[in-house]
Amino acid sequence: MVIYQKTLYFILVLCYNYCRLILLVGGKRGQLEKLEKFIINGGKRLNGSVKISGAKNAAVAIIPAAILAEEPCVLENLPMIDDVSIDLKILKEMGADVKMLNSDTIRIDPRHINDAVVPYEMARSMRASYYFLGTLLSKFNHAKVSMPGGCDLGDRPIDQHLKCFKALGANYTIEHGIVDISAENLVGTQIYFDKVSVGATINAMLAAVKANGLTILENAAKEPHVVDLANFLNSMGADIMGAGTDVIKIRGVKRLGGAHYSIIPDQIEAGTYMVAAAATKGDVTVMGVIPKHLEYITSKLRKIGATVTENDDSIQVIGSDSPYERINIKTMPHPGFPTDMQPQFAAMLTMAKGTSIITEGVFDNRFRYVDELRRMGADISVDGKVAVIEGVSKLTGAPVKAADLRAGAALVIAGLSTLGVTEIEDIKHIERGYEKMVEKLSLLGADIVKRTYPDAEPMRKAL
Ligand code: UD1
Repeated sequence: MVIYQKTLYFILVLCYNYCRLILLVGGKRGQLEKLEKFIINGGKRLNGSVKISGAKNAAVAIIPAAILAEEPCVLENLPMIDDVSIDLKILKEMGADVKMLNSDTIRIDPRHINDAVVPYEMARSMRASYYFLGTLLSKFNHAKVSMPGGCDLGDRPIDQHLKCFKALGANYTIEHGIVDISAENLVGTQIYFDKVSVGATINAMLAAVKANGLTILENAAKEPHVVDLANFLNSMGADIMGAGTDVIKIRGVKRLGGAHYSIIPDQIEAGTYMVAAAATKGDVTVMGVIPKHLEYITSKLRKIGATVTENDDSIQVIGSDSPYERINIKTMPHPGFPTDMQPQFAAMLTMAKGTSIITEGVFDNRFRYVDELRRMGADISVDGKVAVIEGVSKLTGAPVKAADLRAGAALVIAGLSTLGVTEIEDIKHIERGYEKMVEKLSLLGADIVKRTYPDAEPMRKAL
């Protein structure tokens, strides 16, 4: 009996310790994900110039496209951000040879890829992993990729992507979170998108580029990254016309060769620094940009009262010491005001004169930063897809959380333009899309550091 009790006790102790270990490791993992923070001591004017990195949304389409080549490709001006790292890891997992040639240039040799399956967790951790559906389908007539992840901006179906794969002759199933798609032959056809979708337009181009015959995409997205992908594919030998308009014609080719290509500058990163310059009443020049891609930002900044000067490949923004004028913004597909810039503008408008109204015309739920700005003293009410911002004279620093990538950028701007300390958690979202944000802002004179808990904890206590 005693032996039985001792054995039982021993087993219970073992189980208890095992559970503690699991909780500890699990907890640590959770903590490690959460515990990096940006600490901003705000209220300093940004001054100087900042070099803008390559466009995230172009890079995450062009990297998967490179596997269609039958020779190596060299990609320049790649932003070194987490979404690009995941893409490159996926390529390596599938058997590609990926080499960094310098800090923003890689060589991708896809000749040894023989697997049409993208590892589940990798694909799930980002939105743009769905581009592997289009490229792998085009390369192998088969693809197995998990349903995509990415920023939570409300309902984000992929029905338009699947509709065009089907129209090209593919069949698919979705089971256990995986899209399994295959075709005997992809055959060109005419596709009308029910909704303007960047992702579906890009995926359709990727899938159709080697299909038999002509594919015509109608009601296509016109974003600069759609054009950049078409230019890259054409430099590999594709035959794509009309990218940048709402009708894109793709005549399938038999073979795509290697290419040496430089990715366009990131319009959203540039826009974010332009707004940060205005919000901190600073004087910042964004370098290495295409001013045409930034017209919507330039015109809104001028309208609120900032001074904006466009040069060939740079734009200078000088903020005003007086409070800014109120404006209204409605986000729309390109060439409308981009949804990816509305949170940053909203952060700045919290301190403008009067009432600004922001209408979100692309996503269902893009106001997840509002509660966080309220913590800092902003007066914003949200009704469905409309946010009404009543300007206040000042915000105050506070501990806040980034709900998604651009929501995080909005909090950075609010923190920079506000006296006191702002502590931003969940910066993993921000680092998915902004290259070296802390370094770039520090060079402009911001007081911003990245801290890892427990170093960040005294700051919270000091508030
Ligand atoms: C891309 C960008 C994202 C940007 C968005 C809008 C990348 C990697 N991401 O996202 O930064 O905010 O464009 O400019 O380039 N929709 C459907 N069915 C579909 C596809 C989309 O209903 O099959 C809807 C979406 O829910 C959304 C709208 O169409 O309401 C636009 O989405 P889409 O242009 O596809 O955005 P993404 O490609 O996901």
